[in-house]
Amino acid sequence: CGIVGYIGQQDSKEILLRGLEKLEYRGYDSAGIAVTNHDGIHVFKEKGRIAILRESVDTSVTTTAGIGHTRWATHGVPSRVNAHPHQSASSRFTLVHNGVIENYMQLKREYLQDISLKSDTDTEIVVQVIEKFIQQGETVEEAFRQTLSLLKGSYAIALLDEQNPETIFVAKNKSPLLVGLGEGFNVVASDAMAMLQVTNQYVELMDKEMVLVTREQVVIKTLNGEVVDRSPYTAELDASDIEKGTYPHYMLKEIDEQPLVMRKIIQEYQNEAGSVKINDDIANAVNAADRVYIIACGTSYHAGLVGKQFIESWAKVPVEVHVASEFNYNMPLLSENPLFIFISQSGETADSRAVLVTIKALGHKALTITNVPGSTLSREADYTLLLHAGPEIAVASTKAYTAQIAVLAILAAKTAESKGHSLEFDLVKELGIAANAMEALCDQKEEMDYIAREYLSTTRNCFFIGRAVDYYVGLEGALKLKEISYIQAEGFAGGELKHGTIALIENGTPIIALATQGHVNLSIRGNVKEVVARGANPCIISLKGLEEEDDRFVLPEVHESLTPLVSVVPLQLIAYFAALHRGCDVDKPRNLAKSVTVE
Ligand code: G6P
Repeated sequence: CGIVGYIGQQDSKEILLRGLEKLEYRGYDSAGIAVTNHDGIHVFKEKGRIAILRESVDTSVTTTAGIGHTRWATHGVPSRVNAHPHQSASSRFTLVHNGVIENYMQLKREYLQDISLKSDTDTEIVVQVIEKFIQQGETVEEAFRQTLSLLKGSYAIALLDEQNPETIFVAKNKSPLLVGLGEGFNVVASDAMAMLQVTNQYVELMDKEMVLVTREQVVIKTLNGEVVDRSPYTAELDASDIEKGTYPHYMLKEIDEQPLVMRKIIQEYQNEAGSVKINDDIANAVNAADRVYIIACGTSYHAGLVGKQFIESWAKVPVEVHVASEFNYNMPLLSENPLFIFISQSGETADSRAVLVTIKALGHKALTITNVPGSTLSREADYTLLLHAGPEIAVASTKAYTAQIAVLAILAAKTAESKGHSLEFDLVKELGIAANAMEALCDQKEEMDYIAREYLSTTRNCFFIGRAVDYYVGLEGALKLKEISYIQAEGFAGGELKHGTIALIENGTPIIALATQGHVNLSIRGNVKEVVARGANPCIISLKGLEEEDDRFVLPEVHESLTPLVSVVPLQLIAYFAALHRGCDVDKPRNLAKSVTVE
């Protein structure tokens, strides 16, 4: 979910709506704004996209302060009633919330027996409890603070009080929230991107802090009432990076940006002598570890699988890769001196952050690899490596994935070098070659469009197979396809399909097979023959030098260890065109959110 708030002199409706449009990637089940003026608080909310909300907002309401929310449903179905903002029984208080209040049932039982709730959300409980404390004679600030201290779980909150329209009350615990500073106005946002339209000066908030935001002032306090003094930072984001320009979709723009991102990474992580450069402390931390634990979700997890190969084969440090959401329950027996690497495009994923909190409490060191400087996972880890990919807006991750692989390769190479086992090839040069190959692939969109039409326009399902590192890229190719085209897609290790899933192969079932690894080329081709014998429609994507006559597409030659950087590009494009042909919303697929800040 995403939150915005504005208090100043301009029309707050427009600033809030524009802010929400920028935050739509965080959720788009429903959205709403609440604005204040002399005759009270006006709430507009709708199920569906911000565009629908925009239509419903009464433009004649004049207002210079308000809060807004775009939702990714956790408690309660996406509906107008469950959309934020939520109001207290008397309508005096209006609140937006991101996160999950774990003890909401208990709060309801203890404080709200006599209230009939309007929605099914945990959020409404919060605003109703605040009003309960007011009825007991407390000040708004005290009622807010007392309510916050009762909450278990995660929250980013912005609250309006009808009787005090000059203040937005804000609080944060675990869910991201920033306050932005301006001349004669101040703002609140889940992400600086949302309010870049009005300011690039932001103040970070720490967990269990509350803030009183007025036109002229921002006062941060701990829940004990102590005032906190914190300097702002400048958000180094370029507003043009977050526009899609002439592209029909962000996803296509971001796929096309991959060669540029590779070159940017090479530039950022290269020393004057042309070899890889990384802060020595980070390489030493990997070296000092007896085992590396990579923690991530979704696409970032898939990048972690590729990174494991680099770190193990080049730096000779054992690596385990774990899905963040399972780690805290299925924690492996940790080695004596582990290093944790968190991979996260957004740096905000709650599942990953929960693991970070656990391992920090155990006294272990953490490195975060993220695209977002200053993000929660970056701030709370000991070290950070940035992806330098520029903002990624499309929900399906593309350029962050290839950037993560490149940065992991650089980290592994630098660690190997400081251990004395230098690579047998020049990584910087090979990354440059991969960037050129990616560019050549981005120029072949028509061919990918053709493949998507040929294999995927009517199919129900699709399987991706590969061996060795191609298996991991197949997992990512399948994820891309299912995320945006809703085709049931699964990635399998080439040898594993026959141990069960082959039962699903019917006449014409598309199988996308990757063949980029010389040492397994014969075996993967054997696996293709097995499925073809059962009626499958194979689409073999091979690396130049390993190709055979019937291959559907041949990738330009790159170093064998860097093939994921190129083999994923056609898979991203095929998914893009498949989604387009099926009339799906490419940038905002149903049920998903880009940044999942709830566990
Ligand atoms: C969400 C997104 C995925 C993403 C995952 C991890 O589920 O929809 O595309 O891969 O989160 O996000 P992160 O920002 O931690 O890389």
